[in-house]
Amino acid sequence: MISNSVKFLLNDKILEIKNPDPNQTILNYIRTELKKTGTKEGCSEGGCGACTIVLGELVNNDIKYSSINSCISFVPSLNGKQLLIVEDLVSKEGKFHPVQEAMVKFHGSQCGFCTPGFVMSLFSMFKNNKSYNHELIADSISGNLCRCTGYRPIIDAAKSLNKTNKTDEFTKNKNKIIKLLKNIRPKNIFIKKDDKIYFSPKNIKDLKSIIKNNSNFNFLAGGTDLSLIVTKERKEIPFIIDLKEVKELDFIKVSKNYLEIGAATPLIKFENEIKKYYPDFYSVLKRYGSVQIRNVGTIGGNIATASPIGDSLPILLSLNAEILIESFNERKVLSINNFFIDYRKTKLKKNEFIRSIKIPLFKKNIFKAFKISKRFDDDISSVCGSFNFEINNNKIKEVYIAYGGMAAVPKRAKACEKILKNKPLNINTFDQAKNYLEKDLSPIGDMRASKEYRLEIAKNLLMKCFVEINSNKLTRVN
Ligand SMILES: Cc1cc2nc3c(=O)[nH]c(=O)nc-3n(C[C@H](O)[C@H](O)[C@H](O)COP(=O)(O)OP(=O)(O)OC[C@H]3O[C@@H](n4cnc5c(N)ncnc54)[C@H](O)[C@@H]3O)c2cc1C
Ligand code: FES
Ligand code: FES
Repeated sequence: MISNSVKFLLNDKILEIKNPDPNQTILNYIRTELKKTGTKEGCSEGGCGACTIVLGELVNNDIKYSSINSCISFVPSLNGKQLLIVEDLVSKEGKFHPVQEAMVKFHGSQCGFCTPGFVMSLFSMFKNNKSYNHELIADSISGNLCRCTGYRPIIDAAKSLNKTNKTDEFTKNKNKIIKLLKNIRPKNIFIKKDDKIYFSPKNIKDLKSIIKNNSNFNFLAGGTDLSLIVTKERKEIPFIIDLKEVKELDFIKVSKNYLEIGAATPLIKFENEIKKYYPDFYSVLKRYGSVQIRNVGTIGGNIATASPIGDSLPILLSLNAEILIESFNERKVLSINNFFIDYRKTKLKKNEFIRSIKIPLFKKNIFKAFKISKRFDDDISSVCGSFNFEINNNKIKEVYIAYGGMAAVPKRAKACEKILKNKPLNINTFDQAKNYLEKDLSPIGDMRASKEYRLEIAKNLLMKCFVEINSNKLTRVN
């Protein structure tokens, strides 16, 4: 079954948009068509959180709430979901939601421009968790900027929710919403509006048939990179194939030696699984954009952008990950070490997509990864370093080192690895090896960091690794 309309719930009412413009952002739709102006526009690039909305989705007969940036999400992605905007939080009797009440009580708002975004981020935290510690609160609002109140009163408001009754209007309405969501379960969508086409298949078979018969399309996953063509470059994307609803692309499978992840799995789902095997991978992902970005952004999208500052890329390089690539009639496996060609260029051909990524589980190795950026939260890396050591009897048996932000592509430091391999684990080995990073890496200077700073940091991260391995302690600043 194919539909050309987008059906979703606006809180508890079914809405249908027939043949929408596939390039229209949800933010634009909310403000100009629903005429609800509580949701604000700040940056139009996912960076400030003023446009935060919450989407409710059916997961295992329950509702999962996700905060997202409506400025960089297109209208068709509402299909089959519940859209909640700040106006929906006030009850029909005009009573504030507990999150709004807490913001008032703790003076969490001054000019108010950022407030609806904070309220929606905290609402999603409130609904998805039973208690709220500092770490969870800081993570939940890491994608929301406030320029006048400051964060302390907002954090106090969030902490006070621990003492609030968790039964709100949405809890009372839950069964009704679940029923409605089941009624509007998404079908394949095909939209042709003016000269724009949008296709959202539900399974891999339908995905392959559209790839077979078409060319010149753009795959869309979380849209946290692609949508900026519309919102920042002010251009159109004429033909979109949305991968987000393809069920075979959203999975995590763990076997004895590998973790395999579907390319369109949201990063937020992946971070909780990878934590068990590589805690530093998790720590870097926790500082990847914000919750809003990780709720939609995918690992497949991160790899396909081939950005030199893509955070997962040096990590996947040092873990020797494999990429499963498919087209309508072919299937192949490439080592990620052979995948990046040049600045934002990969070996993917036009009608090929990434199906999944296989990450080897080096159970005996020591794995470390560090992200260096100007700001702790919601910032792009200046340098990201990733280190995978096999050490036996105080000797380095095998080593894989990779950096992001240090060349036109994320890159292995092979000259440095060669010096370290088969050497004793001591400071002299590392002191000697760090100078070879100058052979491996050729950073540029930009607004994030000078090239001298980048090289120095890359060397220091290697030495930090030595100190941590040698002392068997973490030397981290929180
Ligand atoms: C506010 C903000 C903060 C950010 N912070 C970070 C950060 O801290 N670290 C970081 O690394 N990045 C960051 N990014 C960049 C962005 O989140 C990543 O590049 C993201 O991983 C892209 O994934 P996506 O699913 O959103 O991809 P999309 O935007 O949907 O797609 C990106 C590209 O990949 C292609 N593509 C997507 N999936 C596939 C597939 N399965 N097969 C083939 N091609 C595919 C698309 O056609 C497109 O060309 C940030 C972005 C924003 C807006
Ligand atoms: S307007 Fe800034 S994140 Fe959307
Ligand atoms: S209250 Fe003014 S920007 Fe936050």
